Amino acid sequence: GAPVRANVSKLEPGQMIVVEWRGKPVYIVRRTEETLSSLGGMADSLRDPESAEEKQQPAYAKNEYRSIKPEYLVLLGLCTHLGCAPMYRPDVGAQDLGGSEWLGGFFCPCHGSKFDLAGRVFKGVPAPINLEVPPHSYESDAVILIG
Ligand code: FES
Repeated sequence: GAPVRANVSKLEPGQMIVVEWRGKPVYIVRRTEETLSSLGGMADSLRDPESAEEKQQPAYAKNEYRSIKPEYLVLLGLCTHLGCAPMYRPDVGAQDLGGSEWLGGFFCPCHGSKFDLAGRVFKGVPAPINLEVPPHSYESDAVILIG
């Protein structure tokens, strides 16, 4: 099918929009500077901090931010456990999670899986792998093409 366009020109730092692509929800988050600087320090709490699992993101999103531009995160909104829609919870304070701290990100209400603001799964939750980054590109500074 044709790619889906998402205009991010009105997205404020910290906000998320959802677009539909091939019947699936795609989450687009404009991350804050604070979020971006926090991503590097979480490796010990994550199952796959380096995005080693090849099929979970295109090669151009296999980097520290799991994105093309650090500011914009593009993710499939489907939990990698059993496919529920994780909730966007960017502002949750540090919570104990089996000895590690969750600084907010995505929380799956079905069985409690937690992901950071790069969609990386925490240890000790049912979801086995990171949230998937769908194929995408930039048509312009403000327009992302999904697909
Ligand atoms: Fe998300 Fe089970 S479907 S934790």
